[in-house]
Amino acid sequence: MKKLLVAVVAVIVALSCVAAMTACVDDAIEPPEGYSVDGRKLNEIYDIDEYERGEYLVPYEVITDSFMGKSMAEKYCVPTVKVTKSDDGFKLAIYIVDPSVMNNVRLVEGETEIHGSEVNEFGYDGYEFEVSRDALDGEIAVRLFVSMVMNRDTNFGIKLDLTQAKLVA
Ligand code: HEM
Repeated sequence: MKKLLVAVVAVIVALSCVAAMTACVDDAIEPPEGYSVDGRKLNEIYDIDEYERGEYLVPYEVITDSFMGKSMAEKYCVPTVKVTKSDDGFKLAIYIVDPSVMNNVRLVEGETEIHGSEVNEFGYDGYEFEVSRDALDGEIAVRLFVSMVMNRDTNFGIKLDLTQAKLVA
C-alpha cells in the first residue's frame, strides 16, 4: 500500500514537472509605439546611460546550476524586466506569469532580503525594487516562493542584457 502511494505521488510529481516545463509564456511584452516625454521613439534600443530618464524593457538570462530550475524560471517569469531611470535613481521590475504558482519575489544582497513593491503592468503582476546602477551590470540574486509542487523558496540569478534595452516610456 505504501509503495503504491509512493508510486502515485512520484507519477503526480513527474507529470507536474512535464506540465510545468512545457507551459508556455506569451513571450516578451510588446513595447508600445509612439514617443516618450523626452521625444525619443518608443520600442527602440537605447543606451540607458546616455539619457537622464527612461523606462526600458530588458531581456535577461536565468542563472542556476539546476537544469530544471532554469527551465522553470524561464517559463514562469516574464522574459523581460523593466529598468526605470529617474531623478530618484534606478528601479528594477520583475514580472511573473502566474501568481498561483509563484509569489513573494525578493532580491538578495548578501544575507539581506530586499522586498519590493507590487505592481501590475503590461498585463502581468510584478515586483519592483530600488537598485543601484552597478547592480544592473552584475548577476542579480532573486528569491521567490514557489507554491506549486516545490512549496518552498528558491533562488536563481538573472543577468540583464542592457545592450537590448527597449524604451517603453
Ligand atoms: C509545477 C511547477 C514546478 C515543479 C514541478 C518544479 C520542480 C522542481 C524540482 C523537482 C526541482 C529540483 C531539481 C534539481 O534539483 O535540479 C526544482 C528546482 C528548482 N526550481 Fe522548481 N518546480 C516548479 C516550479 C518552479 C518555478 C515557478 C520556479 C521559478 C520561477 C522554479 C525554480 C526552480 C529553481 C531555481 C530550482 C533550482 C534551485 C532549487 O532547487 O531551489 N520552479 N524544481
